[in-house]
Amino acid sequence: MIHYKNSAEIELMRDAALLVSKTLTEVARVLKPGITTLELDKLIGTFIRDNGGIPSFLNYRGYPFNSCTSVNDVVVHGFPNGKALNEGDIISVDIGVIKKGWHGDHAYTFAIGDPGPETVQLIQVTKESLYKGIEKAVAGGRVGDISSAIEEYTAKKYGYGVVRELVGHGLGKSLHEDPQVPNYGRRGTGAKLKEGMVLAIEPMINLGKRDVYTESDGWTVRTTDHQPSVHFEHDVAVRKGKADILSDYSIIEAAEAANPHLFVGRAAALPS
Ligand code: MF3
Ligand code: CO
Repeated sequence: MIHYKNSAEIELMRDAALLVSKTLTEVARVLKPGITTLELDKLIGTFIRDNGGIPSFLNYRGYPFNSCTSVNDVVVHGFPNGKALNEGDIISVDIGVIKKGWHGDHAYTFAIGDPGPETVQLIQVTKESLYKGIEKAVAGGRVGDISSAIEEYTAKKYGYGVVRELVGHGLGKSLHEDPQVPNYGRRGTGAKLKEGMVLAIEPMINLGKRDVYTESDGWTVRTTDHQPSVHFEHDVAVRKGKADILSDYSIIEAAEAANPHLFVGRAAALPS
């Protein structure tokens, strides 16, 4: 069942989404070689609680941390741990909060030092594909319009692997609501997009093949070929004419650009 939100509810959801953006901004400030993902997770939990939120991932279906920290070939749901991050690592940080009863859930991928040109391009293209999908999140369209826009921009254009086992989703008073938002599919198919739907759109894109597996911890999802994977996620309200992005990358990007330990690639070149 799809839950539609009115304008007041969407403003509350914006507040929750922005708390995630602000938390990711804190992460962008402190990331550097030598820091551990467990240290990041502690900071994330403290920042969320200090700002009137509850970390929503903690204890969700038994998930044991505040955040998902997915390094290199980990696609999503990586457990924070005591291992130091290294120069050349990429890390997707995915954070969820509940604020005033509403969920925010979004993610950003950072590069610690230079991960090499192929991975830099993967990061850039995955981020761009998220916006290609968001452009289609307008009333009157279909979920498949979002899915196909992401797939076309990543798999068809760059030959990347689009993960199929995990998908975007509706968001609201629950972390996962209908409809599912796959990152592959056909335009003109799927649920109708209507004003008041709020979607977490989250491409998970692999440099190599699309195949993934889940580790014995029951959570960590890795690429089967162990090539890197990138994940970006925004919370988006469907509107007439133009999607309303509730989360905010601009503050994260400013902190990323100001952190000398983080590698920020230039816009992706067209494939040759
Ligand atoms: N962004 C992910 C999702 O929407 C994060 C969930 S992780 C979990 O599914 F720990 F909460 F499960
Ligand atoms: Co999500």
